[in-house]
Amino acid sequence: MAQFWRPGSERPRATLVDDEEGGVLFVSAPPPSSSSGFGHSSLERQRQRLPVFKYRDAILYLVENHATTIIVGETGSGKTTQIPQYLKEAGWAEGGRVVACTQPRRLAVQSVASRVAEEMGVKIGEEVGYTIRFEDQTNPSVTVIKFLTDGVLIREMMDDPLLTKYSVIMVDEAHERSMSTDMLLGLLKKIQRRRPELRIIISSATIEAKSMSTFFKARKKDLRHAAEDSVPSHLPAVLSVEGKGYTVEIHYVEEPVPDYLQAAVGTVLSINDKEPAGDILVFLTGQDDIDAAVKLLREDTQDDRRRTSGLLVLPLYSGLSRVDQDLVFAPTPKGKRKVVISTNIAETSLTLEGVVYVVDSGFSKQRFYNPISDIESLVVTPISKASARQRAGRAGRIQPGKCFRLYTEEYFLKEMPTEGIPEMQRSNLVSCVIQDPMISKMILSACNFGCSEEIITIAAVLSVQSIWVSMWGAQKEFDEVKLRFAAAEGDHVTYLNVYKGFLNSGKSSQWCYKNYLNYQAMKKVVDVREQLSRLLRRLGLALKSCEKDTQILRKAIIAGFFANSCHLEEYSYNGLYKTVRSSEEVYIHPSSVLFRVNPKWVVYHSLVSTNKHYMRNVIAIDPSWLIEAAPHFYQVRTPNLAPC
Ligand code: CDP
Ligand code: MG
Repeated sequence: MAQFWRPGSERPRATLVDDEEGGVLFVSAPPPSSSSGFGHSSLERQRQRLPVFKYRDAILYLVENHATTIIVGETGSGKTTQIPQYLKEAGWAEGGRVVACTQPRRLAVQSVASRVAEEMGVKIGEEVGYTIRFEDQTNPSVTVIKFLTDGVLIREMMDDPLLTKYSVIMVDEAHERSMSTDMLLGLLKKIQRRRPELRIIISSATIEAKSMSTFFKARKKDLRHAAEDSVPSHLPAVLSVEGKGYTVEIHYVEEPVPDYLQAAVGTVLSINDKEPAGDILVFLTGQDDIDAAVKLLREDTQDDRRRTSGLLVLPLYSGLSRVDQDLVFAPTPKGKRKVVISTNIAETSLTLEGVVYVVDSGFSKQRFYNPISDIESLVVTPISKASARQRAGRAGRIQPGKCFRLYTEEYFLKEMPTEGIPEMQRSNLVSCVIQDPMISKMILSACNFGCSEEIITIAAVLSVQSIWVSMWGAQKEFDEVKLRFAAAEGDHVTYLNVYKGFLNSGKSSQWCYKNYLNYQAMKKVVDVREQLSRLLRRLGLALKSCEKDTQILRKAIIAGFFANSCHLEEYSYNGLYKTVRSSEEVYIHPSSVLFRVNPKWVVYHSLVSTNKHYMRNVIAIDPSWLIEAAPHFYQVRTPNLAPC
């Protein structure tokens, strides 16, 4: 282990002050570093200019001396990219140990891992690696800094419950209170009792440090050698890194806007007309409205060259291809103004340099779960004041900025909730307790039915967000494309045709382009399928094809997804279905090949909810298969079928 300051020896330059209530340490700002930077590469100089650099010694001191360290610092201060490197430099990754840093989002994992690899001058997947679901870019014998989603770390606990290979686990973006983050924090607290040598860092942009600190204050009786001066201390340390943010002028609308999408587009155009140079970051809610806004702004470029010719309009959401991701982070070309239209991923997980203007719709997509209908939906929801402040802060990174809020000041002051509701309180906990039970059941049944070759292809397609490129506003063209592959049985069988076509084309990107398929997603499908087939072989399960027997195939799907059955309402002219489980009103999603076909009985893979509940990935079934697959769940009730 490298040399650290120990109690009794000279303390780091920072002043450590005991919190009034005892136990919590605050570190006040040390004098700025006077490094000349001579002889350093420009990346090294950039590293040293980050606010967190001044706290390098203090952070290492606290981590050495406290089982848990809570680090609060503004977005962009260098927490995610720097702290794991400091830990490695200080020796925490020696002797086969690994420093882990978790993120709630996959896109953030990939992006920060490549940045850190670049800063360290190593190839991604070697010393610096990352793991997200279905993609492992690590090399167990050389990886010392590993970025991963918190979900993946929870999954790793199944093989290694005490996470023994990690010396330090940094749980990042804890303020987001995502379900997996909360779950992970709870589990880590338990692990800490058995592994006193493990260090935990909780880092976030706006944490309620006190409640986190109270949660991690280990009870003395839980510590085997609980002496007051034990190292590490059982009392969590709190360190706050001051930001270097500039002031941001806030503008509100005077009247509530009827359509935030139109209002956002209008605001971007007016900033471009009236305001001096600087990039624009727009917060919308999800792929649909982001693609729509991008399209509107790009069309405007064609309609009226004068107004928008200098605009470079780019979307940012998870599921974006690598090339599109890189465009967002690339420096803005001279004479252009970048407009990034993003989900709340740019709120704290990712930093975009050059942003001077923020347009905040006041909404984000959040998961909500209704335990009675068992429907979990992504709902466009008003954000909290805490989020609104974060969003505004993004405008003040390089110079004083402006934030245009598309809601009234009165709404902000009187109605907007102060904090968001933690995801754990609005989610279905099943998937967190058992990892993907329905897909697993489907695959295992397929092994019995003799259609595992096909089912793993289907499972792979279902694991990616969508294999189609976004066709917002082009339903007619999309319908035509789908017809090339469509199977009367539904989407799952259609995917088999798409997959076969992709293989026959020699996995060609041109072929994908012609068929409105997302090439990156298709490559991922091939990867995931390969992993699943390896997994089945390892478990000694047979890979067998059912040779076009789609009935067997659908029965295997039902074995996993029997609870998601729906029947078309009699006399329904608009494709209204009701779920058998709770008579919830649902419709087939326009992206499905069964959209407008409306078979009498269907089983869906998932629901998405906007103004209505839409079923995504739907197959037509015979209701008698439901009783066959799940006699414990269904009973026949004349004239209908009902859950037990
Ligand atoms: O975690 P935190 O928000 O405190 O900051 P960070 O993600 O470590 O980012 C620190 C700095 O690294 C940012 O201000 C960016 O300048 C830079 N960075 C980058 O250029 N590209 C990335 N993919 C990530 C970070
Ligand atoms: Mg970060």
